[in-house]
Amino acid sequence: MTRRLLLGLGLIAAILPLPVKAAENAHLSIDASKAGAKIDRNLFGQFAENLGHGLYEGIWVGPDSPIPNTHGIRKDVVTALRALKVPNIRWPGGCFADQYHWRKGIGPAGQRPATINSVWGGVVDNNSFGTDEFMDFIQQIGSQAYVSVNVGSGTPQEAAEWLEYMTAAQPTALAKERAANGHPDPYKVGFMGIGNESWSCGGDMTPDYYVSQLKIYSRFAGNMNPAQQDKNQMLKIAVGPGFPVTEWTEAVMKAWQQHDWSWNIDGLSVHWYTTPGGWPLSMTSTDFGVDDYAKTLKSTLFMDEFLRKQEEVMDKYDPQKKVALVVDEWGAWYKPLPGSNPSFLVQQNSLRDAILASLNLNIFARHADRVRMANIAQMINVLQAMILTDKEKMVVTPTYYVYRMYVPFQDATFVPVDFDPGTVHREDITLPRLDAIAAKDASGKLWLEITNLDPEKPVEIDAEISGITVKTAEGETLTAPAVDSVNTFAAPNTVVPKPVSASVKGGRLALTVEPKSVTVISLEP
Ligand code: AHR
Repeated sequence: MTRRLLLGLGLIAAILPLPVKAAENAHLSIDASKAGAKIDRNLFGQFAENLGHGLYEGIWVGPDSPIPNTHGIRKDVVTALRALKVPNIRWPGGCFADQYHWRKGIGPAGQRPATINSVWGGVVDNNSFGTDEFMDFIQQIGSQAYVSVNVGSGTPQEAAEWLEYMTAAQPTALAKERAANGHPDPYKVGFMGIGNESWSCGGDMTPDYYVSQLKIYSRFAGNMNPAQQDKNQMLKIAVGPGFPVTEWTEAVMKAWQQHDWSWNIDGLSVHWYTTPGGWPLSMTSTDFGVDDYAKTLKSTLFMDEFLRKQEEVMDKYDPQKKVALVVDEWGAWYKPLPGSNPSFLVQQNSLRDAILASLNLNIFARHADRVRMANIAQMINVLQAMILTDKEKMVVTPTYYVYRMYVPFQDATFVPVDFDPGTVHREDITLPRLDAIAAKDASGKLWLEITNLDPEKPVEIDAEISGITVKTAEGETLTAPAVDSVNTFAAPNTVVPKPVSASVKGGRLALTVEPKSVTVISLEP
């Protein structure tokens, strides 16, 4: 078929790689002596809800499965996730958290009750992946636990006892029960979320009602692990808004400003998904063209304004930025894949999602003085996932590779990059052509990330670097033939990073970034 005919049939964007046009030029200026905030490693957190095949099949296959596993947890998934140095994982929800009763998920596997996951598809849950399995998973991948306690249908006592089960070192009845379940040592719990979307699925509360609950849960659900009393204390995270409004943030932050010794919070959560075109969802995760690519990226860039709005209110009540803004649900949310259970939120993950991920991570890095934690939704088989599985098969997604490329930015110090991003026009949409962040790691290396949003044009970069003497530059770039290129079980290497060539001479870095690409360069003295 000719290009003209394909164009007529509306198939061209999905089938043929875009033509590469003449390069644009961009000048970047980086002064490594101008250190900013720390890019907290917790910004690279994940979210694993009991939803669809996120936990069951995605992580948990059970010890008797023919799929290679360690205590029931998939080995292939653990190996893949270890490479991301996942700093924290939020579990068990999401909306599921406010229907979860933890006692049903402990004890001998065969004796756990079957329950209904009424939030996500009404499926039967045999509760074989419970607290001890989650903690085992956390330990296997070398991460930290972020548990969401049930405020909607639970009680402060239930939450307090869950924390005691997990963290008590003294021989209490609950600590002994944990020991009998194979775990004599107390677990570390890095973060505790107090409810989830309490303005909607978490109980449809008013801000004032939620604040009264927040105080009680914060007061009574405590971490008893002796190793988390003075140092490494568990951080408590309150529910915040999921819309670009500030009434809820006002209520929580005002209460926080007046808090006494008896309760406290360390973070305020916000949820913001990229849903191009809004609800009901219309955007597909596969077989789309450049217009939908542009529409999606335009929509995702709203994250910056969304955060600014919340930060303004937080700054009013907390100018010292003691309370972190925690974006504990974010990512692309598209129409479910045809043929999948719509309640399981299954979607593919393309090069577009890799670019979307880098844009959001860069926004978080620019807000790093207040935004100190974020959790992409969700880790495996759900929404913008790192990993897709189908029985024994596993494939890592373009978003996975972005997270792997960004590992050096974890806990690095933000360094501002001055540049004119330029513009790309697509129908009525105008996008910046370029995005970039830089950071200095503990060993003194400078890291530079450049995202080229332009679907057709490469950009020749000339970066002037001061405040550090750099001699060598090396790095990788992630791109693919089309904006909707994906990795599949049959073709897992369509979107994979490859080495990029860059040169440094007299404090200037030169390289060309390909169209629709994410590039990370290390610059060494
Ligand atoms: O991530 C899917 C759902 O989105 C979560 O359960 C909920 O908190 C949000 O609305």
